[in-house]
Amino acid sequence: MKKIICLVIFCSMTLNTLAQINSETKTEKMERMEWWTKARFGMFIHWGLYALPARHEWVMSNEKMSKKTYEKYADYFDPDLYNPTQWAKLAKKAGMKYVVFTAKHHDGFTMYDSKYTNYKVTNTPYGKDVMKELVDAFRAEGIRIGLYYSLIDWHHPDFLVKDPIHPEKNNKKELAKDSSRDLKKFQKYLKNQLTEILTNYGQIDILFTDFSYPQKENGKGKSYWNSEDLYKQIRKLQPQIIINDRLDLREEGGWDFMTPEQFMPKQWVTYKGEKVPWETCQTFSGYSWGYHRDDRSWKSTEQTIVMLIETVSKGGNLLLNVGPTARGIIQADAVDRLEATHQWMKYHNRSIYGCTAAPEEFKKPDNCLLTYNPETKRLYVHVLEWPFKTIYLPGLADKVAYAQILNDGSELKLKTKKGAWLDDVKSNDNGLTITIPVTKPDVEIPVIELFLK
Ligand code: GLC
Repeated sequence: MKKIICLVIFCSMTLNTLAQINSETKTEKMERMEWWTKARFGMFIHWGLYALPARHEWVMSNEKMSKKTYEKYADYFDPDLYNPTQWAKLAKKAGMKYVVFTAKHHDGFTMYDSKYTNYKVTNTPYGKDVMKELVDAFRAEGIRIGLYYSLIDWHHPDFLVKDPIHPEKNNKKELAKDSSRDLKKFQKYLKNQLTEILTNYGQIDILFTDFSYPQKENGKGKSYWNSEDLYKQIRKLQPQIIINDRLDLREEGGWDFMTPEQFMPKQWVTYKGEKVPWETCQTFSGYSWGYHRDDRSWKSTEQTIVMLIETVSKGGNLLLNVGPTARGIIQADAVDRLEATHQWMKYHNRSIYGCTAAPEEFKKPDNCLLTYNPETKRLYVHVLEWPFKTIYLPGLADKVAYAQILNDGSELKLKTKKGAWLDDVKSNDNGLTITIPVTKPDVEIPVIELFLK
């Protein structure tokens, strides 16, 4: 039974017939990913030296800074207000089931105690392994642990500077050194660091590698990272781990889920025509993942909640980002939105957890989004614009045993008799009309729960 349910959740998606690099069967892979597929909602945390300049985590590249110029931020990193337990409680309250934390970003600075570099958090005035503290705190709240690891490294001496996004790509002196940079050494460094983060921090549930760009002139991809070898090592150290798709191993099957970024796919994400597991990562505001002091383009609480619903209605997960400040605080605007998400999730989380896209035979009513729990056979109608007195559900006549408003569990009457003078109920789309109260329930997005026969 469990396997069947799992299959439905994954829907008709085929997880590409046996990947060459991954010997699992489709069912094994589905089972490994089951918790993640059901969880649906996670917290991304971008935190690093870039919190100090506070103007995008790509500031080093955007402003073409030399290593030396950027390194100074390490001398001032001292988040005196850092309290990862508070962050974890906030995430948990909002309903997030996993966290993905930046162990190292493109700037090459490690937020953990790495023995392969001195460019690390333990050598800052703060002096402690922030990642260790964070992992312990989130785990204590029952939140699954994911780590983000940048393959790109603008600090490593063996990383080629002749590269379309490297901060020093126009620096002649640095470019001249490219011929003596040792790729093997860099590859070893990546492997060593990945080995560290997957060995010294207990069970790691997700690895988010970032990113490959082989299609660009002088870009980097699997041959540069030595991805196949990394993939094998990752799965060897943490066999249960779930890996994103940025190692550039799509063809080889060295990935578990796709990662559309700051963008809402039109429908369930596919690869070679097949539906695949996917997760969209989104910011609360603007385009910066790291703390950006001057950015004011915040999404509203309603937009944030709709984003979560819409993602699940298309069979995906949402990874929502916070960029804490240099002092270790999650901004009030983000906290407000997380609190609002908590208010909504408190009454509606069963239309999210364990849910997926509705079976295709059920068409969504106007201004609504549908999610479906295949285990309980309940269909959730998320009403984005509350209509007047009735809601019409195409294809659902005779299929619904009971209906209620989810936030208060109050019954909604099903109209089975056709109104003589209503043309619409005479239509042939097998629709069902439900009577709803005139006043919109006092929640951000009301949900109607339908118990299917
Ligand atoms: C990108 C960006 C990066 C951000 C990430 C989140 O690849 O380079 O700054 O961390 O996406 O998905």
